[in-house]
Amino acid sequence: MIIAIDGSAASGKGTLAKRVAAEFGYDYLDTGALYRAVALRLLNAGANSNKIDEKQAVNAASTLNLLLTQTAEIRTDKVAALASIVAAIGPVRAELLALQRAFAAAPPSGRGAVLDGRDIGTIVLPDANVKFFIDADLDIRAERRTKELLQAEQSVMFRDVLADMKARDDRDRTRSVAPLKAADDAITIDTSKMDASAVVLALALSHIDRVCPSEQ
Ligand code: DC
Repeated sequence: MIIAIDGSAASGKGTLAKRVAAEFGYDYLDTGALYRAVALRLLNAGANSNKIDEKQAVNAASTLNLLLTQTAEIRTDKVAALASIVAAIGPVRAELLALQRAFAAAPPSGRGAVLDGRDIGTIVLPDANVKFFIDADLDIRAERRTKELLQAEQSVMFRDVLADMKARDDRDRTRSVAPLKAADDAITIDTSKMDASAVVLALALSHIDRVCPSEQ
């Protein structure tokens, strides 16, 4: 059983993906963490958003140590912005594709896999059993992200978070390779008015039950 969850930044897709995986005892892969880890390697090597060496980026992807995807360092907005730039490089995506497909084909639990990202239902796993597209209004997502950063005691302004998120959204949606978009057979959930993640989970579970009744 493979569940693909795509969506925009701070839409709630990661929370949903983790909860769905826990519900069924499936394994979860946060594919954004792969792009973030590549970006962090480049930042550590002195790169910045105006100076990306494509060869170096491809090399960082092909020799990625997966332990890096588990570090707190990849969770900054600086890394997120560079991840979105690096993610627009076709050969970088190609390097990470096999890894994502291998995880879905043989998840450690042997039961099922939930992957979240931008192109899971469209490119990585077009034959996934169930596909979701999670989105919310830009202002609301930026507000959520601002709150998270303030809670983590980082000093941020809503205005800056909004501008960064808009730039990242535009890049992710308009790039020529594997842009962020809903797969034709995905169900879209707009979380703008759903702060309680339990409501989103209930909606998702009832959709999974409709599509694959034996999983409940
Ligand atoms: O989901 P996230 O915010 O951690 O993702 C960081 C960036 O990685 C995002 O802006 C675009 C890129 N990404 C992608 O292009 N494809 C994916 N499947 C996952 C993430």
